[in-house]
Amino acid sequence: MSTSAPAFLLSAAALFLLLSAVGATDHIVGANKGWNPGMNYTLWANNQTFYVGDLISFRYQKTQYNVFQVNQTGYDNCTTEGATGNWSSGKDFILLDKAKRYYFICGTGGCFNGMKVSVLVHHLPSPPRSALAAEHSSTGSSAPAAVGSVGRGVLGGVLGVVLFFGLGCGWI
Ligand SMILES: *[C@@H]1O[C@H](CO)[C@@H](O)[C@H](O)[C@H]1NC(C)=O
Ligand SMILES: *[C@@H]1O[C@H](CO)[C@@H](O)[C@H](O)[C@H]1NC(C)=O
Ligand SMILES: *[C@@H]1O[C@H](CO)[C@@H](O)[C@H](O)[C@H]1NC(C)=O
Ligand SMILES: *[C@@H]1O[C@H](CO)[C@@H](O)[C@H](O)[C@H]1NC(C)=O
Ligand SMILES: *[C@@H]1O[C@H](CO)[C@@H](O)[C@H](O)[C@H]1NC(C)=O
Repeated sequence: MSTSAPAFLLSAAALFLLLSAVGATDHIVGANKGWNPGMNYTLWANNQTFYVGDLISFRYQKTQYNVFQVNQTGYDNCTTEGATGNWSSGKDFILLDKAKRYYFICGTGGCFNGMKVSVLVHHLPSPPRSALAAEHSSTGSSAPAAVGSVGRGVLGGVLGVVLFFGLGCGWI
């Protein structure tokens, strides 16, 4: 609400740099259609692959809609009881920090009109070469791959902190 333009630009630039650095993706729900009624977000979700450290972001009219993270029951029945998170800025970035299935719904009734999305987040893929090496030999050199994952994990943590801080300050 009291977001200042320079702070917003700074956080947007920081996000961009961090996302580029870690190779993480920001999955914009509904792409250019955003988070709105009358969509089939299963089709949208089926068309992308989610990895730990990626972001999912929701863009919508904050006076009409919002976002709740729920469990499968909440997703199936459009109920927000026991929700583990809620967002309402109209431009919400949510870090997918675990390999599991996430469920998000709109808590203002839009869920009954399709505003629900479920995404399965995968562990980071191992580079093909080290996967092959692991399969065919126990002496394959997988050190670079290990360093890569650790580096990405650390940067993912930094991204999480920036996001947390940014949300706390109302930047994003
Ligand atoms: C959305 O698309 C999926 C995959 O094709 C389909 O199974 C599902 O029934 C559709 N949902 C609605 C509400 O049309
Ligand atoms: C699936 O993703 C591709 C590449 O991002 C895009 O061009 C295509 O329009 C998407 N299809 C659907 C059904 O969203
Ligand atoms: C979900 O909704 C269905 C039908 O409305 C109902 O039969 C079922 O008991 C509900 N499940 C839960 C866990 O509330
Ligand atoms: C989802 O949360 C509700 C409320 O806490 C609970 O009653 C329900 O059993 C949960 N469903 C699942 C599939 O965990
Ligand atoms: C939304 O989340 C906040 C904490 O972030 C919590 O205090 C509040 O009760 C939640 N609202 C609902 C309706 O669950």
